[in-house]
This record gives sequence, C-alpha cells and structure tokens, in this order.
Amino acid sequence: MQRMLKNQGKEVINMAHTVKNFDRLIGLDGFSEKLLKQHFSLYQGYCNKLNEIEEKLSTADRTTANYSFGEFSELKRRETVAFNGTYLHELYFENLGPTLLTPDGALSEALKRDFGTLQAWEKDMRACALSTPGWVLLTHNWVDSKLHHYILYEHHIGLPVHQKPLLAIDCWEHAFMLDYGTAKAEYLNAFFKNLNWNVVEDRFARVLKHLK
Ligand SMILES: [Fe+2]
Repeated sequence: MQRMLKNQGKEVINMAHTVKNFDRLIGLDGFSEKLLKQHFSLYQGYCNKLNEIEEKLSTADRTTANYSFGEFSELKRRETVAFNGTYLHELYFENLGPTLLTPDGALSEALKRDFGTLQAWEKDMRACALSTPGWVLLTHNWVDSKLHHYILYEHHIGLPVHQKPLLAIDCWEHAFMLDYGTAKAEYLNAFFKNLNWNVVEDRFARVLKHLK
C-alpha cells in the first residue's frame, strides 16, 4: 500500500509494511490454535508499530535529538525493534510448516561442513535456543562464507552485520508458554518436527546464486 509522507518538508511516497497471513499454520502438530492466533496478533502489533514509527519519523523534529530523551531519538531507538519484530516473525512463520524433508544437497553439505554433522548442528541450535529469551538465527555469514548460529536479545540486540538469515527460532516465552509452560525443550521438539526445510533451502539457494 502506498502512502504519502513528509520527509523534512518534502512529500515522498513510502510503502507501508503489510501483515502477511499465516493461517495455514493452524492445525500444526505441537502448536495450539490459541497460541498461534495470539502469536499472529503480536506480529501484527509490531507491523502496525513499524508503520506508526516510520510515519512519525517523517515529521519528527530533528533539532530536539538527544541521548537522554527526545521524540526523534526515541523513535529511532525503537525503530529497529519494530522492524525486526515484524520481519523476524515472518522468517519464523515462513520456516514452519508440515514437511517430511530433511536438509538435502548444498544446504546439508554446508551444515556438515560448518557444524560437523546434522546432529551436531541441531545440538548447537538447541543450546543456543536455551541461551536466549529472544531469537536464534542460522545465518550465512558474508565475511567468512560459513553458516553460523547467533542469538538475539529482544528483537534487535546481538545480531552481527553481514548476515543473511536462513532460519529463525522464536525463543520468546510467548512462542511456547501457553502450550508448554516452562518446558522450552519440548517446544523445541515441536519446532524441529515442523521445520520446513524447503524454505530454508530456498533461502540458501539465493545465497549460493550471489556467491557464483
Ligand atoms: Fe514472537
């Protein structure tokens, strides 16, 4: 959806961020409908806030910018929270879904190259998930061309630059408490059982195209 915004006095066209529908996930084994619907609402909230922040930034007074407090400064500090809160959730919902596939071909080889075995890769990712109340990402690192796991706090703290996210696990309590209480390891069992490798392989294939 296009909208007109004023940026420092000038009118510019901006694209509003739009919420995607992930209702196809309802019925997924190990994820209750109630939990998923609440999770979709949270994601929608981040997307709405992102649009609100961008709109307010277009007219916010730059002359009051200040480390302690200022409207422009505060909006900039929270912009990344809303942006990552929106697009990390999309990565996560997209890489969930019924699948019988295990990683194949180039992705499987890269995981074995950088983690030793697929079992070692999963063990590492589970350990990362137990280490953060935020997110775990499997990324392609453009610096060393290897696959890495990185953990994020909140939505925006801890991600190194030069990364292409391939797989995301939401480790916030809202992603599992309703169904599993504090048994996060059981939530991870459900996550790995429903990991859609097709999507992860597609993301990695796009990386490989750039490397050629
Ligand atoms: Fe979430």
